[in-house]
Amino acid sequence: MGGSAGIVVLMATITALLCMGAAAGGQPPFSCWPGAPYVRFCDQRLPVEQRAADLVARLTLAEKVSQLGDVAAAVPRLGVPAYKWWSEGLHGLSMWGKGMHFTGAVQHVTSFPQVLLTAASFDERIWYFIGQAIGVEARALYNIGQAEGLTIWSPNVNIYRDPRWGRGHETPGEDPITVSKYAVAFVRGLQGPSPTTLQTSACCKHATAYDLDDWRGTVRYNFNARVTPQDLADTFNPPFRSCVGEGQASCVMCAYTAVNGVPACADYNLLTKTFRGQWGLKGYVASDCDAIALVRDGQHFRPTPEDTVATTLKAGMDMNCGNYTQVHGMAALRQGKMTERDVDRTLINLFSVRMRLGHFNGDPRSNPLYGHFGANDVCSPAHKNLALHAAKSGIVLLKNDAGTLPLRRWTVGSTAVIGPNANDPGALLGNYFGPPCETITPLLGLKGYVKDVRFEPGCIDTACWSAATGKAVAVARSTDHVILFMGTSHVQEEEGRDRTSLLLPGQQQSLIEAVARAAKRPVILVLLTGGPVDVTFAKFNPKIGAIVWAGYPGQAGGLAIANVLFGEHNPSGRLPVTWYPEEYIRVPMTDMRMRADPATGYPGRSYRFYRGPVVYKFGYGLSYSRFSRRLAASGLAGHQKSLLASLTSTPAADGGASHYDVEEIGPERCEQLKFPAVVEVENHGPMDGNHSVLMFLRWPNATGGRPASQLVGFQSQHLEAGEKASLTFDVSPCEHLSRAREDGKMVIDGASHFLFVDEDDEAEISFDASINSP
Ligand SMILES: *[C@@H]1O[C@H](CO)[C@@H](O)[C@H](O)[C@H]1NC(C)=O
Ligand SMILES: *[C@@H]1O[C@H](CO)[C@@H](O)[C@H](O)[C@H]1NC(C)=O
Ligand SMILES: *[C@@H]1O[C@H](CO)[C@@H](O)[C@H](O)[C@H]1NC(C)=O
Repeated sequence: MGGSAGIVVLMATITALLCMGAAAGGQPPFSCWPGAPYVRFCDQRLPVEQRAADLVARLTLAEKVSQLGDVAAAVPRLGVPAYKWWSEGLHGLSMWGKGMHFTGAVQHVTSFPQVLLTAASFDERIWYFIGQAIGVEARALYNIGQAEGLTIWSPNVNIYRDPRWGRGHETPGEDPITVSKYAVAFVRGLQGPSPTTLQTSACCKHATAYDLDDWRGTVRYNFNARVTPQDLADTFNPPFRSCVGEGQASCVMCAYTAVNGVPACADYNLLTKTFRGQWGLKGYVASDCDAIALVRDGQHFRPTPEDTVATTLKAGMDMNCGNYTQVHGMAALRQGKMTERDVDRTLINLFSVRMRLGHFNGDPRSNPLYGHFGANDVCSPAHKNLALHAAKSGIVLLKNDAGTLPLRRWTVGSTAVIGPNANDPGALLGNYFGPPCETITPLLGLKGYVKDVRFEPGCIDTACWSAATGKAVAVARSTDHVILFMGTSHVQEEEGRDRTSLLLPGQQQSLIEAVARAAKRPVILVLLTGGPVDVTFAKFNPKIGAIVWAGYPGQAGGLAIANVLFGEHNPSGRLPVTWYPEEYIRVPMTDMRMRADPATGYPGRSYRFYRGPVVYKFGYGLSYSRFSRRLAASGLAGHQKSLLASLTSTPAADGGASHYDVEEIGPERCEQLKFPAVVEVENHGPMDGNHSVLMFLRWPNATGGRPASQLVGFQSQHLEAGEKASLTFDVSPCEHLSRAREDGKMVIDGASHFLFVDEDDEAEISFDASINSP
């Protein structure tokens, strides 16, 4: 605060002065400008909650209600500027939302790969750096007047439960540990390093158990997800708990879906008891857009708009994306459905976040941490390189018959480039994108490597209702190499649109097969898809020599693909989601159960519970080099066994091993029980490259809803050809050995567990005090 701090004046006088300030000099577009009269809410020495409470206490009832939607009105008499809460930054800043625009000095932003591809790197550093870069670009836009908010409603940390989900590619996949780690890394990057001033505010969405947009008329707006306590505890909720707890996200978004009969945005147990009470949310709860209106109009949960507004606000929902609460809030108050105190609690949460963003500290451009970011920090060389690096790191090599890949840059002859995704800028992006800094399609990328490129799209778009097979075959016949760029796009999968098939759409398969038959050598098939596809036909076709999955790879995707195909980058991506065969679509999308039910033929979901045939399994991914891994883990040390012996365990009902309650063990003893597991990894050549080591746990059996296996952790390591390294994993029994009981309680069996990185190399970990470590 400036020199006027400490002057005590009556509130009426302050108001008059603020009005004069505004009228006289023209009010700056921010509050608490230097020289403004002292008001408590501008006093940076006070805790934000006190400042926010002071501000809220000065608002009239009408002004309060005007703050309850994503477009929040200005309160000029207090110098409070208007604010737009809704911005998106899923894999780069986005045109969705109302908070940012791209029509000034900055017209382009860095478009990183869609999240599922980035997740495939299994490299937390990359996830953090992407979050950080998006946060920097948001601050830059804000500083130059192209953003009216810094609250970003990303990341999407729902579990990718069903392969058909049109938003699955927005998520980090099907594994709760991977999604949790992604959430923490991305949120930390986005929110920045300062404990006091947020770079931007991140929002973990969509809580919880939301992963269906439209299945045969059941849509997200009216879907009631029936979820077991066991699945909630070990699958749907962990990413949100990590996002809020470890990641310290300042927002959680409640979903459209109802969970076990209660719309998420109207659920006091979820929003208040769980997010705030159990997970310690410091921040606000946003609703998905128009989710509050839909609590009545879609879910039919409350009879009137006023009841709906009151129920959701009292449940702990703070920010209604939309204007339903603004429109009906006053009437709800007048009718006594809620009180001014309910509104105040919400507003304190909201203004606290605005204050943590530094918005009531004078001019944001003089913020010491973020004030200097400007147009040059958007699409900077560093951000563009990161977009390329992330795409390369995620790309997964699925098939590589002897010698097909890599191609040699200088010796490759004429090359046919075939497919609807070869030169479509849209196929690089996926849901939620902004105008990219640059667009390197696969065709453009390849032109830097091959002199004689002959392009034939084969179909107009990915729907591929009819294929120009004759033309494509002629090009394939006349060239030395053939690379096909096939897959999906927003035509099959996007928000509001789930896929109906896992096969390549339309005539794509017959086109690929015809081209493969005609080509001089085995062809290379590059798949640009959001989610998994059933390409069994290609896996077993000897005329298809290589298959590469490139997700939706972002602005530099075409260059990243060329780098991989020509061996300038040794692929190390691993699939973050199971690739099921087409027959999987007989499973109703609405069946939320993760666990299989053999009695009724229900196959279960994800690598943790599904035991049926797969096209490619979770964690699958090849390299141009051969790597080997050896695991050494000794389990609990002597003093840890003694600690274990001092804990009480609960006998199992079925006469099996007794178990320990994780909550009863408590954080301190959980910390003491951690032990290391070491993996020796070696690159046997011939190329340098990265290797992601995925460590799993399995139980002696999969009874009682125990997963068949569960990821413990992962590490990505660069190794030159011939190089070895040892990677240490911290195994925490409370986190990694625990399992959810049917009632949702997390427990650890007092019995053996098995760690493995390869299926034939296991280490037995005994969590039984009476047995000595091996
Ligand atoms: C509320 O939002 C709806 C839909 O965007 C719009 O049609 C309506 O005019 C808005 N009402 C008010 C009072 O702002
Ligand atoms: C399965 O494993 C658990 C925990 O190790 C054990 O208690 C139980 O007896 C086993 N059940 C069967 C059927 O083997
Ligand atoms: C390879 O691993 C190193 C750490 O050993 C990491 O810094 C780098 O980002 C990784 N690169 C890729 C392409 O994954």
